[in-house]
Amino acid sequence: MNTPKRYLITAALPYANGLKHIGHLAGAYLPADIYVRYLKAQNRDVVFVCGSDEHGTAIPIQATKEGTTAQAIIDKYHPIIEQNFKDLGIEFDIYHRTSDALHHETASAFFKDLEAKGDLETKTSLQYFDEAANQFLADRYIKGTCPNCGHNEAYGDQCEKCGKSLSPEELINPVSTLSGNSPIKKETTHWYLPLNKHEDFLRDWILKTHANDWRAAVVGQCKSWIEGGLQARAVTRDLDWGVKVPVAGGDGKVLYVWFDAPIGYISATKQWALNNGRDWSPYWNDSETKLVHFIGKDNIVFHCIIFPIMLKLHGHILPENVPANEFMNLEGDKMSTSKGWSIEMDDYINHWIKKENGGTGLADSLRFYLTAIAPESKDSEFTWKGFQESVNGELVSIFANFVNRTWVLMHKLCNGKVPKIHTEFLDAEDEAILQSVKDSKEKITELLELYKFREAQFEVINLARIGNQYMQKKEPWILAKSIDTDPTAQAKIDNCMHACLQLCANLAILVNPFLPFTAKKMCYLMKVVDKMLAWENAGNFNLLKVGYTLRAPELLFRKIEDEEIEAELTQLRSNLTQKKNTMDTNNTPDANTTADDNAKALKPEIVFDDFGKVDLRVGTILEAKKVEKADKLLQLEVDLGFEKRTILSGIAMHFNPEELIGKQVVVVANLAPRKMRGIESKGMILLAEDANGKLYFVQPQDAIAAGSTIS
Ligand code: 2FM
Ligand code: ZN
Repeated sequence: MNTPKRYLITAALPYANGLKHIGHLAGAYLPADIYVRYLKAQNRDVVFVCGSDEHGTAIPIQATKEGTTAQAIIDKYHPIIEQNFKDLGIEFDIYHRTSDALHHETASAFFKDLEAKGDLETKTSLQYFDEAANQFLADRYIKGTCPNCGHNEAYGDQCEKCGKSLSPEELINPVSTLSGNSPIKKETTHWYLPLNKHEDFLRDWILKTHANDWRAAVVGQCKSWIEGGLQARAVTRDLDWGVKVPVAGGDGKVLYVWFDAPIGYISATKQWALNNGRDWSPYWNDSETKLVHFIGKDNIVFHCIIFPIMLKLHGHILPENVPANEFMNLEGDKMSTSKGWSIEMDDYINHWIKKENGGTGLADSLRFYLTAIAPESKDSEFTWKGFQESVNGELVSIFANFVNRTWVLMHKLCNGKVPKIHTEFLDAEDEAILQSVKDSKEKITELLELYKFREAQFEVINLARIGNQYMQKKEPWILAKSIDTDPTAQAKIDNCMHACLQLCANLAILVNPFLPFTAKKMCYLMKVVDKMLAWENAGNFNLLKVGYTLRAPELLFRKIEDEEIEAELTQLRSNLTQKKNTMDTNNTPDANTTADDNAKALKPEIVFDDFGKVDLRVGTILEAKKVEKADKLLQLEVDLGFEKRTILSGIAMHFNPEELIGKQVVVVANLAPRKMRGIESKGMILLAEDANGKLYFVQPQDAIAAGSTIS
């Protein structure tokens, strides 16, 4: 492919309604940053835009929760999130805000243009209205049962369990989260974007043109949308927070947040251009620009279907790729700030980076682990133990170890200077190490171009591993012992240390997109300017001049201790409990929970035969233990009378394993086996949950033979 003339890279605009967690970081911002750093190292013309998404119902919902105004909420969270990104090395060219006047103008003009051209339709329909609150209910203010998977906490716009996009009308037993009442239907008029009119374009553009170069999951999701039948989507809402609808009849209405937010990428580019005396327009209008959207999988439809239609209608270029990531779970469960089961970027920064005494190795440690487990093709899982193993086992033991050994030995055996090469003593291994660098650069480049960041980073570590093996073979410390007797010893030491130093310089270049603080620190150790990190320098073994004095060794990374991991796990558990308690005493509506958890909508009706399919048996717990690296899981051995079963249950936060031995429980005995953490779970234990989130076993009232049936 020809090198594009310029790049416009976007990362999903986070809602400024609260802190963002490391799952968000891993989903969009870190991969985007890696890609941008790689492009910039190649001296390409790149603009990396992001900013706060400050409209939509998430903001006023949070305001009600915090007892303040929507404006106060965005003014509180926008700067914190921006600073969090900086602390973790995510370097945008602009971090804009959709509350900015420039954005309101841009989004308004966009809407007006489409409306004037007849690209939008108006429709009057009946919509849900909460009589007690006297307002129309935005999709996020309605919860109910998902018609697709039966999850009974699906929102009016999407079921977060199965990912299906919904309209409030599709929800079974809808409930207003404002009052907890069932809403009524009332007439209202809105503007719609008729997606159905663009089906041919989408089929052609996604299912033909990009069928092979976009990630399979992205194409798959688009395909199922297109095949499922596209419909007109309302792009306005009855709400008073957002960009006002700028045409006649728009009073009391705003643009739907998903209409205005992606336009935020354009207004951010405009603001960047203003700040830098540049022209924004070629970045959005010239076909030689490569536009790439980095997002999480929940944003696919908006970036691959709706926004491209808007872009096309307004005369802009389309994205070349939308490398959406899957989700990153945490210790066996879905990450969720509102449920207290997450690691906020802010927490990580305070617990680790700020305590580091100005260092930034720990920012890179997190970046490293998140990329090592990047959910590029399937959901992945963050565990604190995994973090520790990854940092200690790879960053410290392989990468930092190689650089450190090189520095220590160079100071000890070569007077702290870059030694010269003695060509007469060069051998096949020396040649091989140079070849390895060239091969690695090629592989890493290829992988980065394909958005395979996880594998690309693995290759960098692998190169450091090769460096360690090379040094281990050459054993300069052994050669040093025979310096007085062997006249060739110093020459061989010099050759080895020269190669190792040049390899370190190359590693700094190749690791830079992933671990920018580390690359900077390596430049400091080498006493070179950042310009050395230019991608074109990789594969070169003359980066450090012979005779040049280098700085004293300094460790790049430190080990993560067991106690630190324990402390984080304890913190996580206590966050969960605290959140549960606040949710119980605070009945204000939350973007993620219903006003009253007990008013959970019933699942769809079933007939007796449906129930009859479930085989319930009494079981006796014989053994119980924690599952390694899964904070919530207990592994139980259960006697069912006719056989003993291993069953995994997510109750480790609620019960100590010891207290369970001998307990009788009710088991769904004919549930299909499921593997978790490599262990096959055969069955499920029934539990009741009270309003405080406390769990209780469902049990026979007296001891009864294991295996007894229940009907
Ligand atoms: O899902 C989210 O967090 C949205 N705020 C993302 C918006 S991306 C873009 F379109 F602005
Ligand atoms: Zn669902």
